[in-house]
Amino acid sequence: MSIHQSVQRVTVPQLMSRKGQRKIVALTAHNSVMAQLVDEFLDFILIGDSTAMVAYGLPNTLSITVEQIAAHSAAVARSTRHACVVADMPFGSYQKSCEQAFENAAYLLAQGHADAVKLEGGANMAPTIAFLTSRGIPVLGHIGLMPQHVHTMGGYKAQGMTDAAAQQLLADAQAVAQAGAFGVVIEGVKESVAAEITAEVTVPTIGIGASAACDGQILVTEDMLGLNGDRVPRFVKRYADLANEIKAAVQRYADDVRVGAFPEDKHCFGIKAPPANK
Ligand code: KIV
Repeated sequence: MSIHQSVQRVTVPQLMSRKGQRKIVALTAHNSVMAQLVDEFLDFILIGDSTAMVAYGLPNTLSITVEQIAAHSAAVARSTRHACVVADMPFGSYQKSCEQAFENAAYLLAQGHADAVKLEGGANMAPTIAFLTSRGIPVLGHIGLMPQHVHTMGGYKAQGMTDAAAQQLLADAQAVAQAGAFGVVIEGVKESVAAEITAEVTVPTIGIGASAACDGQILVTEDMLGLNGDRVPRFVKRYADLANEIKAAVQRYADDVRVGAFPEDKHCFGIKAPPANK
């Protein structure tokens, strides 16, 4: 399918109108095959910076570039026609200045064919979010456990655990929403805090490890399909065990090749298939 064919995607205003109405369902995808499989079931697809780990085997999300996210985003956009396409802004691509953020976000929309971008940060990123949204770039915020802050957090830890930290998270969510973000991802936050933020902010909250109190949910697809080995956070529910299914299939293929059971005549050119038994 070409991205130039007419496509009726879920739009950013439609996502916003779902606040308090119908839950928003999202997953990550970074390649054409997965994007095609998940598209019809989702409201938005995130080309997350977790692509760094899932597709490139990197130890964290920090090293992926804008060009890489744009290439994966373009693949997802080309292969889908339903879900809104949101591309993550990589670490270092938006923190320096509003102008830097605009240049890279515009690249993700223009070359990555994304409908919106996501960036991490609370009140500190509000001026950047306002700069982008007032120039035609829809922004999804991301607060709480922010993987791009792994070094300042000292690991991947639940956030907002004290009263003061919870109040700061609420202030962050409000600042992000007031700056014009169409929604905010809340990651790694306890239920009571996620519930309070969801009740207080006017835009949809999308939870990952933040309880069912949120207006929607997102997971890394490879985690929920059981493709990520044993590195699965507690907040992930595994809906399939594809790693073991894939291993079993590859084992059967390897056995067949080794004993000469594959390919059979029907898989070969120039060998007539035997007549079917009557
Ligand atoms: O990169 C990512 O996968 C994310 C999560 C919120 C799903 O940012």
